[in-house]
Amino acid sequence: MLRSLLFASVVIALMFAGWLLLPPATTFDAASPVPAEDNALATRGEYLAIAGNCASCHTAPGGEQMAGGLPFVTPFGTIHSTNITPDAETGIGNWSFADFANSMRHGVRPDGTQLYPVFPYTAFTRISDDDLAAIFAYLNSLPAIRQPTPANDLSFPFNIRALMKAWKALFFEYGVYEPDATQSDEWNRGAYLVQALAHCGECHTPRNALGAARAGSPMAGGEYLDRVPGGGHRPWFAPDLTSSDTGLALWPEGELAAYLKTGRNFFIETFGPMNEVIMNSTSRLGEDDIRAMTVYLKELSGSAQAVRAPVPERIMGRGRTIYNLHCGTCHLPTGEGDPDMAPKLNRGSLVVQAVNPASMINAILYSPEGPDLPPRWRERMDEFQYILDDEEVAAVASYIRNSWGNRAGLVTPDQVARQR
Ligand code: HEC
Ligand code: HEC
Ligand code: HEC
Repeated sequence: MLRSLLFASVVIALMFAGWLLLPPATTFDAASPVPAEDNALATRGEYLAIAGNCASCHTAPGGEQMAGGLPFVTPFGTIHSTNITPDAETGIGNWSFADFANSMRHGVRPDGTQLYPVFPYTAFTRISDDDLAAIFAYLNSLPAIRQPTPANDLSFPFNIRALMKAWKALFFEYGVYEPDATQSDEWNRGAYLVQALAHCGECHTPRNALGAARAGSPMAGGEYLDRVPGGGHRPWFAPDLTSSDTGLALWPEGELAAYLKTGRNFFIETFGPMNEVIMNSTSRLGEDDIRAMTVYLKELSGSAQAVRAPVPERIMGRGRTIYNLHCGTCHLPTGEGDPDMAPKLNRGSLVVQAVNPASMINAILYSPEGPDLPPRWRERMDEFQYILDDEEVAAVASYIRNSWGNRAGLVTPDQVARQR
């Protein structure tokens, strides 16, 4: 109690200090609004909206396109995405292009209300003027849907929108993407897509206690809370995408491209939060853009590696027994995987190698839930939540994470319990 009070007062003091430091809000000063009837522009905008994955957040399952209403669980409470169809009352129908650009670049509404960074304007601030204009034309070409946004449920002090002004002063870096002249056009295109539109770092970059990207370790892996069908939420870990030897150094460029384009590659198949990223966004991008993203990602310099707790021999032995009994028939005793039965678990799965085992634990407890793709495996993996207890899941995960060349460290029964 005392600690949380202390934490809250530090937060408020920091935010207030940030507020005083904040430069006056800048407004967008680009050219005039875009005519909604410009079809070529709207078509280009549609492609960019796919790259930005607007629909995954702004279209609720079974809901109208871009009409919002999807809940997002954060450590500070629940926030809903808004209606971004051109409805005048409940959407953005009355917004000028400058209003739209201000929300995407500065995270403010036309009336000056602050927006929460669950809306990834920390990345979208880097989108170019031309691309913003095209996205605006596309949104304006959609049917206007009347649908008010549900009320949010945030804890104090995070329910005070004005405090986001201070958060921004501390953590938000405004600015359009600046090409790096020492790099190729392809690399720059990839960097622009990954950093600005596709906002991969929103999940893959580690965050501090106030939900801001930690400086100095872009793409080194981050924790992410996701909704669970039927209510509640569960932590995941978006693994290290730098070229460290537990990150993307494990995959050749072609395998990364195959994963982003099709959801599958030689090593693994997508499951979890990446399903939406791949199905709604990257799989629908052109080959050139996918190649550009892989060129950029493969050149990210390796992150500093966290110390990984060694695994006692006793736990390795127990894990091996559980593995050979419950897992080896499909993943094979060597962890090599069987092309018809199950993917590889030896060096090649970023999820298995990750310093934080949250995504791997979800796979074991709840069975990896893939997207709607032509069947690849003969049988679905069991939900081991019904078969193994916390200690057994921890032991088998520790065993896999430290066998066959994997060096990912210990998983504790507490870490498993947290995800039940
Ligand atoms: C990760 C989820 C996510 C993605 C991706 C996303 N948004 Fe949002 N967006 C939100 C949330 C949540 C809000 C509401 C924020 C708030 O209430 O403070 C929001 C708010 C907005 C707003 C402000 C609307 C208003 O009424 O205040 C606009 C405009 C917007 N988004 C446009 C877009 C566009 C365009 C894209 C794609 C390029 C996009 N968003 C992608 C989650 C997302
Ligand atoms: C909404 C959060 C989120 C976003 C946005 C996101 N990722 Fe991920 N990513 C995850 C999580 C969580 C995992 C681990 C579980 C899974 O596969 O879903 C992951 C896994 C991965 C993996 C490793 C797959 C494996 O199984 O070894 C790669 C590669 C990857 N993401 C690339 C990307 C790229 C490139 C982007 C941007 C286009 C991106 N991700 C955007 C959350 C995200
Ligand atoms: C019936 C066969 C089968 C058995 C038995 C099985 N699995 Fe799996 N496993 C699969 C399949 C199939 C996938 C891929 C599913 C997908 O990604 O769509 C998978 C994926 C995984 C993944 C995710 C790998 C990645 O990075 O994508 C992990 C971790 C895993 N299994 C661990 C285990 C453990 C631990 C056990 C034993 C307790 C086990 N599996 C038993 C079939 C099996």
